Amino acid sequence: MAERAPIQHLVSLQDLSDREIEDLLDLSLRIKKRAGAFRLEGKSVGLLFFRGSLRTRTSFEAAMHQLGGHGINLNASSDFWELESSEGARMDGKAPEHVKDAALVLSRYVNALAIRPALAGQSWATDRRDTVIKSWAAHARVPVINMESALGHPLQALADLMTMRERLGELAGKELAITWTNSPTAATPAVTNSLLLAALRMGMKVRVAHPSGFDLDDQVLSEAGRIAEAKKTSLATGLTAADAVSGAHVVYARSWMSLEDYGNPTLAASRRSRATGWTIDENLMKKGKNAVLMHAMPVRRNVEVTDDVLDGPRSLVYDQAENRLHSQKAVLVTLLR
Ligand code: CP
Repeated sequence: MAERAPIQHLVSLQDLSDREIEDLLDLSLRIKKRAGAFRLEGKSVGLLFFRGSLRTRTSFEAAMHQLGGHGINLNASSDFWELESSEGARMDGKAPEHVKDAALVLSRYVNALAIRPALAGQSWATDRRDTVIKSWAAHARVPVINMESALGHPLQALADLMTMRERLGELAGKELAITWTNSPTAATPAVTNSLLLAALRMGMKVRVAHPSGFDLDDQVLSEAGRIAEAKKTSLATGLTAADAVSGAHVVYARSWMSLEDYGNPTLAASRRSRATGWTIDENLMKKGKNAVLMHAMPVRRNVEVTDDVLDGPRSLVYDQAENRLHSQKAVLVTLLR
């Protein structure tokens, strides 16, 4: 059998084989135990945030520093001008530079580029294509890491898998409830998409709860169904929170915007205001199988999850946030060594 090329970029976990994901998880857990054994001396990573971040930015910079390398943070949303990403564009508009040129220039300075692209926010059909992160990956001469695009957040999913594996051991057959929560600032379903697909690939049984009108992306659901069948596990969506959480080992809270109202904040706010009662509280957690709580954060206390659950003994949210550091080190070591 022909040998597979080493991992080149991390744009989506779907680009990785099961073995490569397992290797990243094993390395993440080893790095957490023996951080000093892994070094990236003399290496640098350019961090381009076209949207804000607390965890991803800080954990990346800390990871590179602790590995003996350097993270160069480009506050892309304020320091940068707009970049054109359409191939063959006649650039007589607002953007004075093409992603192609930025990627080729930055590739001469750093060993990897990690990018959180902006969202156009007008049409889900357009944003879901993730053309900007794909354009960086197509043109850069160094590995490109997706720090959350419209469609996916592979780094969060990796930390999520690591956290569940630490707590539950073997994930195959374990039950994961992903429950929608209400939030005035709902995000894209990127976190949910990546988690859903990654958990199914690990053989987890996944149940997704959400109010009507908050269905996940059709193509992501088709892919999820295909994986569930291949892994001989189960997937159910559109459930009530109580049905999803019943018997679950993990309750993962996440708010995402209605894709039906994407690009229309007024309709979106109106739909969200009708979705009442989607707060994770102790009563709901009790329906699980000694269930742990996870959330990618930022979390709106007492709107998405009550204080007693977030601060209680079954909350893994800070371990989960810490694991961003270790699992990103594993990604960096894998891509840069
Ligand atoms: N979970 C996550 O990606 O957090 P930040 O948006 O703060 O980076």
